[in-house]
Amino acid sequence: MPVSDDAARPVNPLRDPSDTRLPRIAGAAGMVIFGVTGDLARRKLLPAVYDLAHRGLLPAGFTLIGFSRREWTKPEFEAYVREAVEKGARTDFDENAWRRLAAGMQFCPGTFDDDAAFDRLAALTEEMDRDRGTRGNWAFYLSVPPAGFAQVCGQLKRAGLADAPPGSWRRVIVEKPFGHDLESARSLNQTINSVFPEDSVFRIDHYLGKETVQNILAVRFANQLFEPFWDARYIDHVQITMAEDIGLGGRAGYYDGIGAARDVIQNHLLQLLALVAMEEPVTFDPVQLRAEKIKVLRAAFPVEPFDRTTARGQYGPGWQGSEEVVGLRSEEGFDPESTTETFAALTVEISSRRWAGVPFYLRTGKRLGRRVTEIALVFKMPPHQPFRDEQTASLGPNTVVIRVQPDEGILMRFGSKVPGSSMEVRDVNMDFSYAENFTSDSPEAYERLILDVLLGQASLFPTNTEVELSWQILDPVLDFWRSSGRPETYPAGTWGPSSADAMLQREGRTWRRP
Ligand code: BG6
Repeated sequence: MPVSDDAARPVNPLRDPSDTRLPRIAGAAGMVIFGVTGDLARRKLLPAVYDLAHRGLLPAGFTLIGFSRREWTKPEFEAYVREAVEKGARTDFDENAWRRLAAGMQFCPGTFDDDAAFDRLAALTEEMDRDRGTRGNWAFYLSVPPAGFAQVCGQLKRAGLADAPPGSWRRVIVEKPFGHDLESARSLNQTINSVFPEDSVFRIDHYLGKETVQNILAVRFANQLFEPFWDARYIDHVQITMAEDIGLGGRAGYYDGIGAARDVIQNHLLQLLALVAMEEPVTFDPVQLRAEKIKVLRAAFPVEPFDRTTARGQYGPGWQGSEEVVGLRSEEGFDPESTTETFAALTVEISSRRWAGVPFYLRTGKRLGRRVTEIALVFKMPPHQPFRDEQTASLGPNTVVIRVQPDEGILMRFGSKVPGSSMEVRDVNMDFSYAENFTSDSPEAYERLILDVLLGQASLFPTNTEVELSWQILDPVLDFWRSSGRPETYPAGTWGPSSADAMLQREGRTWRRP
């Protein structure tokens, strides 16, 4: 189910507009990537652009301009993109598709403080508008550290690139981190919004581009089955887990001093919470969808006292499968005294009729037991069970699990009679798997999001208000952690610090072991 504003789609008169299987193809446009030599561009953005081109979803004259301080020629830039595509693309490498894309590639050397470079960029976009029919429609992808946002936005404004000629559009795409607390996020938003109006700003939270995350809306609002129990009357608590098995080798520059809560909870996990907890939007158009998410985030708060309702940790040495791995402080580039957390958990509640009193436990960590992202709605136990205790000794609470990744799907766990002459009841699983039900594989999140930017469909992009509300939820916890010493160490390959287990145990609950 595409979450999109169907009414805003360009309609191809040769096609039946009611056929939602038809691909959405972007209209005339070009994209400039700042930071094109960076890790994100190489691993994700360039392969995604190629995959879109290969799937025939980009317009014929699509133009990609790389901006970087390197003194590259056009062929050198092409060779760099080709290597990134060959390594990272999900679709096969096809010479024809590549040649079509490469024909529209340009390189603009320069630094962010170089007025002349931005003037050259402006001239290049005009040339492309004439030669390739990009029609003045440009997306500017700021794949650069936030410290560079103000400078690049200022230069785009100065060079006349931020203002669209009549009938055209200009959009800016920004990547997290969207600040490191509420105050810095506000000032970042002000900086961006002083150049680009909010409806031209596309903030990437790549989790929203994941098929299974969009499926939360499909499951909740296309069915009658789930919604009747989706509230405090039936749900005991919700667990939102994003666990990773990888460590942080090579990412010190970004991660040290940021930590798991800012890196993941502020954005991905609070967005998942918003989608799980929100009311039904009137439509999936950006205004309606975001209004519902904003209502939830506004009503959400971190539960206190934080020494009992939160946990944080840092991975020490241990085993990841059969591989012996080092602890964070021995990872290349990390300060051996680093207090950056690699595991964070907190408790959020929502002041609404639907959710009052239901804790949402959010946790994320690096070097955990395995890579998995899931949302588990754990039910209350039935008020009465006409069984003897020993007959239900192996029966846990009913659970609905939305598996975001891997093995995307939905699992329902409930009690069933064990075959035999006695009335013994045990938990069983009913499992829907994407892979078994659909033959086409899901597009990569960045493909979906880049295409949506070009189409001007903003539903899957968080607004400045959402970003600020998320910091408002997280800031008190970060303040508390700042004054509470070192994070507890947990051995790599385990499920985090013991304080995380204690946090749930004292409420008579346990974390799922996915
Ligand atoms: C990013 C975080 O946003 O998401 C990374 O900065 C994390 O630390 C990544 O590894 C995980 O993304 P995915 O799509 O692999 O779950």
